[in-house]
Amino acid sequence: MNARSALLILLGLVIGILGTVFAMKALGDRNPMPHAVMTVMGHHMGALSEAVKTRQCDAAQANDHLLRLQSTAGDIAAAFPGAEQDFLDHAGRLRTALQNAVQAHPTDCAALATAIKPVGDACQSCHQKYR
Ligand code: HEC
Repeated sequence: MNARSALLILLGLVIGILGTVFAMKALGDRNPMPHAVMTVMGHHMGALSEAVKTRQCDAAQANDHLLRLQSTAGDIAAAFPGAEQDFLDHAGRLRTALQNAVQAHPTDCAALATAIKPVGDACQSCHQKYR
């Protein structure tokens, strides 16, 4: 092998490695907001349904989770820039459901279950269409 072909092979390797690094960086740059917003909402929704399931429905804690859900739901539009109107309508329905749930101020498990039912429905209806 002469020096020139050795150099070409080396060059090829370097270009290959650089390409991999760029591809990995592009993947890492994927907008993390949708995942973040949904994960946070999943956490609070999970805590609420766990409370109902285990029959441990503390009014103050439920209120806290509902308020966090409500404020996080306000970030959906920002997390999905360029989303179509129907998607934003789904997000609006979730916000309405959460507002009602917060206003209901559930103090026992029966009331909490009733309050979060429309919220869960709003999550599900958007997921069925867009997830
Ligand atoms: C307006 C539409 C919409 C609404 C309303 C909505 N979601 Fe989502 N959700 C999505 C989309 C789209 C994805 C997929 C996101 C992705 O792949 O980046 C998703 C994904 C998720 C995930 C998986 C997250 C991940 O990336 O691993 C969870 C958990 C989740 N949603 C929870 C909820 C909960 C809980 C609610 C209701 C309180 C809710 N979502 C309401 C659109 C919605």
